[in-house]
Amino acid sequence: MSTKKHVFVGSFASAESLKELSVNVGYIVVEDGKITKINKDERNADLQSQFAGYEIVRLNDSQILIPGFVDCHTHAPQFPNIGVGLDRPLLEWLAKYTFPLEKRYSDVEFAAKVYDVVVKRLLNNGTTTACYFGSLHAEGTLELAKSAIKHRQRVFVGKVSMNLQNDAGYFNDTEKELAEVQTFVENVLAYKNDLVQPILTPRFAVSCDDDLMSGLAEISDKYDCRIQSHISENHSEIEYVLKINPTCKSYAEVYDKNRILNNRCIMAHAIHLTDCELQTMVHKGVSIAHCPASNTRLCSGLCPVRKYLDNNLVVGLGTDVSGGDSASILDAMRRTMDVSAHLEMKGDKGFTISWSEAFYLATLGGAKALKLDHKVGSFEVGKEFDALLIDPYAFDGPIDKHDYCISSSKEERAVTLLQKFIYLGDDRNIVQVYVKGQRVKDLL
Ligand code: GUN
Ligand code: FE
Repeated sequence: MSTKKHVFVGSFASAESLKELSVNVGYIVVEDGKITKINKDERNADLQSQFAGYEIVRLNDSQILIPGFVDCHTHAPQFPNIGVGLDRPLLEWLAKYTFPLEKRYSDVEFAAKVYDVVVKRLLNNGTTTACYFGSLHAEGTLELAKSAIKHRQRVFVGKVSMNLQNDAGYFNDTEKELAEVQTFVENVLAYKNDLVQPILTPRFAVSCDDDLMSGLAEISDKYDCRIQSHISENHSEIEYVLKINPTCKSYAEVYDKNRILNNRCIMAHAIHLTDCELQTMVHKGVSIAHCPASNTRLCSGLCPVRKYLDNNLVVGLGTDVSGGDSASILDAMRRTMDVSAHLEMKGDKGFTISWSEAFYLATLGGAKALKLDHKVGSFEVGKEFDALLIDPYAFDGPIDKHDYCISSSKEERAVTLLQKFIYLGDDRNIVQVYVKGQRVKDLL
């Protein structure tokens, strides 16, 4: 059982910025879900008397404490399709596989079952914060919020909005949609759960007209909610959006004229932004969810993350299941490194993202993208304690222990082991997960 007060003793690592990795050996004190003390000096060892009544968690020499992972973009209702039907480009994939599945979530019982599995899977993978797309159905999507409350995941939950026709008949009447969204927002807020927030979710400009988007922007302002969508993922998508919005010169302009772009907005993909669109996004304070697994599987493109970071665009990582074939942010880190290296090999000098930069994007970068960095993303006194206890040599895990280590100090050893975890690890190495100070996974 978890207690309300913990002291974690051993190595801990967190990314302070894209370029700064902080690795220390000492202890972290957590009270009522918040970090109240960080000691970076392991010699102060008389913890038993100093912290009577606290649960003292002593890490072994290989274990490391890191901040929880942030998934800035995933589709909870698409999980039953994970790993299937990735043989078509975006718009065909949506029509053939995705919309027919999402339609099933009018069945609330079905929704409740799937969402329970999804939330548990993500927590097991170390995702302590997730920004979810639900489906068009308000009741079904409330089940996602309920699962997050039950299993204690920090989440944004969005009821998807669409009002333009498609072959699956998966869309809503505009007035009805806006009324349902407002009720959905009020229902989520009525849970009064500080880990769960509603987010407005116009699917993308292929599925939403101006009336719907501007109506949603109004609701977002009224309730001070985040808003999420997709932008510039695929060339046919961009072409189609410009065709149905002939007065707009760019995809971003379609969202901008409907007041979607602001510092509460998270846009997924953004692979093919023009320089002008990039400046608009930066200027408006929009964040990007980079989804490399999906971008590769649907052959959507290679997102120039380095260029965006160099231009001060805020970037987090997303798994984008089921366009993405993995529900793990560890996988998203590796694919971010791979895609960036492919761009560098194609001639974009300096585009490679290092493992420690990927670690930043998966933690503090994601928290910044969701505007949660005052609460989570790194270890700082005053922040809430969302954390993963990593055991690189966990029993039955994928990393073999060899009688050889190039590192000398404990800090250097922790850096080596963190690196190994990021390149090779999986959920077996995530032996404990904490959300706001409470243990939600425990393999120890
Ligand atoms: N664009 C609009 N909807 C979707 C979706 O469900 N997945 C992805 N990858 N892109 C989208
Ligand atoms: Fe998506």
